[in-house]
Amino acid sequence: MRTAAKRLALTIPPLRRLYEFAMFHAHGHTESQRQLHELQQTHSRALEEARRQHEKLELQLYVMRSDHQRAAVRNEALSIALSELETQVAKNASFEKFFAQMSEKISSGFQAQQESLNGLLDRAVSREDQALAQSKLFGQLAVLTSEVARIKRPTGGTSEGLATIYLNLLEDALTGILWNDAPMDPWSKSFDPSVRAIGRDWPSSALTMIGSARLRNFRMLIEQAISERIPGDILEAGVWRGGACILARAVLAAHDVRDRRVWVADSFAGLPPPDPKYPSDAGDQHSTFTQLQVTLEEVQQSFRKYGLLDEQVCFLKGWFKDTLPRAPIEALSVLRLDGDMYGSTIETLEALYAKVSVGGYVIIDDYILEGCKQAVHDFRRAASIEDELQEVDGAAVYWKKTRA
Ligand SMILES: C[S@@+](CC[C@H](N)C(=O)[O-])C[C@H]1O[C@@H](n2cnc3c(N)ncnc32)[C@H](O)[C@@H]1O
Repeated sequence: MRTAAKRLALTIPPLRRLYEFAMFHAHGHTESQRQLHELQQTHSRALEEARRQHEKLELQLYVMRSDHQRAAVRNEALSIALSELETQVAKNASFEKFFAQMSEKISSGFQAQQESLNGLLDRAVSREDQALAQSKLFGQLAVLTSEVARIKRPTGGTSEGLATIYLNLLEDALTGILWNDAPMDPWSKSFDPSVRAIGRDWPSSALTMIGSARLRNFRMLIEQAISERIPGDILEAGVWRGGACILARAVLAAHDVRDRRVWVADSFAGLPPPDPKYPSDAGDQHSTFTQLQVTLEEVQQSFRKYGLLDEQVCFLKGWFKDTLPRAPIEALSVLRLDGDMYGSTIETLEALYAKVSVGGYVIIDDYILEGCKQAVHDFRRAASIEDELQEVDGAAVYWKKTRA
């Protein structure tokens, strides 16, 4: 019905024009709405994007601000450090000046010291020359004294006095004190009679290194054994150039003793390398000292020079452990040990102590050395020896054997 009316109305031209006009506008409105909607959407997208950009920029700004802040703080610290450095440099400059002044003072003082030291040294050298000349005079005097004593003393009842003079002189000769024999060890600078007297250096040409005090002790104990009639020979284990044994033979000669012998025991090739059997000797360096290697021929030659090489002197060549246990010795009145090491000491005591007569003497030259001392203690403990140890010179000891 409505469609029929519409169709009828459209046949009327003014109505038709009105209708077309209305339709046209209705369509334009819808298009405008659509375009408006699109515009609104584009606008809101642009807004959203702008907001995002803004946030991003704000964040960057924040980061830059904090970077700037940090840089400012760092700058401040750097400028403080810089100014401290400048102060330090300034201080150093004045220190440098101070040091330069000081070192100049020190070096001029040192020069003055050195000059006065040189003066002192010059004077000391001339004093040393004087001392040397004086010692030479003393040496000549000692020889002359013995000559005069021999001339002055009538023969007969004076043999004891002569024996004393001979043995005294022999001691000085064997130690090198007679001619201020220079030391050859690395620790001594020049000959010092007080050092030589206690045998603390190695003589360059003298025949014994044990010094006057230990030499006198050896002589005294041999004389005591003779006067006390303690049976037995004399033996030294460790003789080096043989000086102590030469004195021992001279003591027998001086007292006209013909029934005792002097046993001279040595490798004649220096000390043995440490035996692992004896932990106390671990690392011992004695075997490396070529200065301690003296041949049998050299020692025999020295006995000969002193006119004391005869049948009363017996040589035992080889290591103590091989020679001493089978040496054809019946008894000993004085046993002198000078083998430095634990092994050399204990091997000698084990081989020969039983042969030392009761009333006889045992001398330990190297008691000052820890290894040797340990060997003496170990042996004495094992053999229940309680005889008192007697001091000789702060290095050596001896004891008198009081029971078998
Ligand atoms: C310190 S020197 C002796 C010094 C000597 N008594 C003197 O009057 O100068 C040590 C000597 O002991 C000897 N010696 C040490 N241990 C030895 C051993 N186990 N067997 C043989 N000789 C040894 C060495 O050859 C060296 O001549």
